[in-house]
Amino acid sequence: MNPPASLLLAWYDQHRRILPWRALPGQVADPYHVWLSEIMLQQTTVTAVIPYFQKFLERFPDIAALARASVDDVLSQWAGLGYYSRARNLHRCAQTVHEMGGFPRDPAGLQALPGIGPYTAAAIAAIAFDVPVVPVDGNVERVVSRIFAVEDELPRARPRLAGLAVRFMDDQDAVARPADFAQALFDLGAGLCSPRSPACVICPWQSSCAAFRRGDAASFPRKAPKAARPVKYGQHFLLSDDRGQILLRRRPDKGLLGGTLELPGGSWTLERPEGDAASVAPLADRCAMEWRRCGEVKHVFTHFELRVEVWAAHVPVLPNLREEDGMAVPEAKVGELALSSLMRKCLEMAKRKEDV
Ligand code: ADE
Repeated sequence: MNPPASLLLAWYDQHRRILPWRALPGQVADPYHVWLSEIMLQQTTVTAVIPYFQKFLERFPDIAALARASVDDVLSQWAGLGYYSRARNLHRCAQTVHEMGGFPRDPAGLQALPGIGPYTAAAIAAIAFDVPVVPVDGNVERVVSRIFAVEDELPRARPRLAGLAVRFMDDQDAVARPADFAQALFDLGAGLCSPRSPACVICPWQSSCAAFRRGDAASFPRKAPKAARPVKYGQHFLLSDDRGQILLRRRPDKGLLGGTLELPGGSWTLERPEGDAASVAPLADRCAMEWRRCGEVKHVFTHFELRVEVWAAHVPVLPNLREEDGMAVPEAKVGELALSSLMRKCLEMAKRKEDV
């Protein structure tokens, strides 16, 4: 049996979160805000997204401004949010939607756009256009797995959970308020129905929750054991000169951290690099430099952990550069450029050791 939508909606009316992309009660959401927030929220938390969302809107107040911007400008505003292909798709999507004269209103039309998968299409359709669909993210999966005490393990349980969530729309109270219903589910999942210590005693859906009745809500969703993350190793090099310039290089558009700027370095490998770091350092074939080991930066990606040995050297003047060497950039400008969080950590380590 479905839990009554009316109870969840009444709870939402009292306890809804105020979020910068969210319409206030009685107001209509701006599709541009909804779309932008949903792309930013893929793989990132609400708390981390809020300042980026606000900064982004100041720079690109509407879809036309974003469509007109250079991809570099978009990437630099995105820097730190990770998964940089999202920023490129965001930019392409803005250009397409601007040309189309607005967002499609239905999930199928939305899903045809760059960077929009089934979840995001459902979220935009529900929140911006009140289409009666239920977007199923990790929070909603958790709520559904508890309400129905689903024993199947994630990730295999995903289609089953999505199928159960679709049935929420059999309730006419949900159909009457799809935007509020979707956001109520997000808020319930992010708040009361939290992963480790769900607040079942004050939950509006307590009396319909099979996991609560069993007394072990926190043990849902069931999860298949995770494989351990492999460790990879890399070396990156900060080369600076007396004019305050540093050497940076752009990563290929495709792949991890695609299109972001980085301190030059070798590829990342499962074995710790052996031998003389200076021989793989930038410009090693042309200039003799004294490289100093600054320390090791650890960074966790979804599928592996990376340990980067950071090296630094200083020369009076950077030599003439070939295209494959990268580019000389004033260090004072680095804050405005598209450096990933990983590279900001490496740069910080190289600088910190310089100061002491
Ligand atoms: N998670 C995914 N989309 C969200 C939204 N629009 N509001 C809050 N949390 C979310």
